[in-house]
Amino acid sequence: MADVLDIDQVEGCGARVRGLDVRKASDAQIDAIREAVFHRGVVAFDDQVLTPDDQIAFARRIAPIVVNRYFPKTERWPEIAKVEKTEDQKANIGGGWHTDHSYDAAPAMGSVLLAIHTPPTGGDTLFADMYEALPDATKARIAGLEAPHASAHVFGEGGAYAGTDQANLSGHPDTPEAVHPVVVTHPGSGRKALFVNPAFTREVVGLPAEEGAALLTELYAHAIQPRFVARYAWRPGTMAVWDNRCTWHFAMNDYHGHYRLMHRITLDGGPLDA
Ligand code: SIN
Repeated sequence: MADVLDIDQVEGCGARVRGLDVRKASDAQIDAIREAVFHRGVVAFDDQVLTPDDQIAFARRIAPIVVNRYFPKTERWPEIAKVEKTEDQKANIGGGWHTDHSYDAAPAMGSVLLAIHTPPTGGDTLFADMYEALPDATKARIAGLEAPHASAHVFGEGGAYAGTDQANLSGHPDTPEAVHPVVVTHPGSGRKALFVNPAFTREVVGLPAEEGAALLTELYAHAIQPRFVARYAWRPGTMAVWDNRCTWHFAMNDYHGHYRLMHRITLDGGPLDA
């Protein structure tokens, strides 16, 4: 990887590629980016000058694209979802720890997020590394467990965005649920990753509700220790590719009164095994 990409590890989670215009990436560089995403969880790039077609073309070289059901689309490119907060809005999108599409039977492989307009300060995204998050002491306890992931309480009728000024994200009739292993084998790296998240997972199959909730709370608290988390700042042209199977993310909502617009493409994945 080092011979085709100038890449630095980011403490806590992920990596940063320097000096690459992704429009001109060679096939070897695309393969190295994909490998870095699989192993490091997040790969960020600065100073990209990309049209929507360029972003779509880059994303397609990493993996096939899947269209998100809920997010507003850019006017001409259904592949690109708008993650937007205007000067007048108080709620943001993705302002809690989550991984995208875990409620799908075939969860998304990842996402490609490009900063279009950023606030003068704030609006960073936190990423947490779910490889590192596997707690040794509880590994045996969680091996073989499965957990349901749901979307209705977020995107359905009366869901989390209802009553906020992002209410267009709630009230959807299509609210999938899926059961996945609590610990999955990452299909790209072969490593074990914790695959439950606070937004979409609320119980554990076969455990009484209180016991399951307590176990999840314990895992979540372990996962977001500062040593497993990195903060990514954005400026227009910053782009990150992340892997939803081995990271969580959290969009900070600390820039009220300022506009933030990100273009997100979701990458298709597949069913996950223990
Ligand atoms: C998301 O949750 O996909 C959005 C992340 C962000 O806007 O920083």
